[in-house]
Amino acid sequence: MDKNVVCDVAHDLVTLFRSDGFEPLKRRDAIQSALAPFIGAEEDLFQFGIRRPSPPDRTRTIFYSPELILFLSRFGTDYRLPVHNHQSWNALMICSGAMHFTSYRRLDNGDASGRAKLEVADERIVKAGEIGIVDRPPHDVHQLEIIMKDTWMVTVAPCPEPALREIYDTSSGTYEIKPLSPLPVAA
Ligand SMILES: [Fe+2]
Repeated sequence: MDKNVVCDVAHDLVTLFRSDGFEPLKRRDAIQSALAPFIGAEEDLFQFGIRRPSPPDRTRTIFYSPELILFLSRFGTDYRLPVHNHQSWNALMICSGAMHFTSYRRLDNGDASGRAKLEVADERIVKAGEIGIVDRPPHDVHQLEIIMKDTWMVTVAPCPEPALREIYDTSSGTYEIKPLSPLPVAA
């Protein structure tokens, strides 16, 4: 893949984000089409990215500015995340492979520390060229599971990721604040 495509995509995304009244959920098609050049992205683009400090080495930062970060990640089917938040919107495009993506709407007003009432806002299988969108806070709650081996994903985020997240237990309506870690592999 031509590495110059990264700056072109970043430029298109920033132009989109700066447009009046930008709302990620309403601009799904525009975000997806801006990211289309990354369909099929894999090792040849990964090699240009910046390695993240802690292993495993499955995500590289391929673009950074104070208003936009792009990550390229490779996953196996052992990768699934708990329900968590981001403190910002973001978009996840599958370059190849597939994921099961669920986003949640937060129904409570956040007044009760450690408690959250969530309902599913969107649930879909996201395949190559498609995106999952995480809405703005407080509805920036989501979960994902990689369902095909050799899945490659580009993550678009408008600001650095916070070190601590709200990690939710939807069955008890509670959350804990802690670092985000993948769930253990099922036995
Ligand atoms: Fe996330």
